[in-house]
Amino acid sequence: MMNKEMIYEGKAKRVFATDHEDEVLVSYKDDATAFNGEKKGTIVGKGVVNNRMSNYLMKILEEKGIPTHYVKELSERDTIVKKVDIVPLEVIIRNKACGSFSKRYGVKEGSELKCATLEFSYKNDDLGDPLINRFHALALGLASEAELTEIERLAFLVNETLIAYFQTIDIELVDFKLEFGRYHDSIILADEISPDTCRLWDIHTHSRLDKDRFRRDMGNVEEAYLEVYRRLGI
Ligand code: TMP
Repeated sequence: MMNKEMIYEGKAKRVFATDHEDEVLVSYKDDATAFNGEKKGTIVGKGVVNNRMSNYLMKILEEKGIPTHYVKELSERDTIVKKVDIVPLEVIIRNKACGSFSKRYGVKEGSELKCATLEFSYKNDDLGDPLINRFHALALGLASEAELTEIERLAFLVNETLIAYFQTIDIELVDFKLEFGRYHDSIILADEISPDTCRLWDIHTHSRLDKDRFRRDMGNVEEAYLEVYRRLGI
């Protein structure tokens, strides 16, 4: 698979064509952005951590019956995944209040929630990924009712599985963002699961082991990614 055409370059990954029309190669970069690309930087080694961590977690999810795009890890930064048509919704699950939820509803970061919650953002950089509800998503034709129901079901299943897994490595899963794609006639989990897309707190100290360290200039960014990687034991 040499010198294949780059199909897409995102903020943190590049996507290349492969010899299979049903598969693409994803290559993870160390580039980091926040606030819709306004803040830019580099987190050395992030691409390796995110690639390997995402693949590892997707394999765990597959074992639990959750369909994912994962096919094969080629190298530290490169993975073959199923080529999907991404549903233009960011699916955010929260187990505790934090970030934009805390801000919007005036609740302290780390506050308990009565139950896990889910929200959608419309994946649209020009609009800054605005919060969107089910009715709006249907009205705009972003997904069908059946697709939204399946996405919600899978997202909560991912949550249950990941909460339990992270507990075994002394990490609390505060919240995370998922993206789903259409593959033939089904909905499968796509994109990545990494410290870029999850809030991961040390269970004992509540120290943040995720991209909030970059977003909020907290320091020890690389160290946090490496700590999660070390705990995964991969
Ligand atoms: P939020 O509290 O800023 O809405 O973020 C919720 C979760 O979604 C958090 O785990 C970080 C993740 N996230 C992304 O993966 N991409 C994004 O662009 C944003 C804003 C958040």
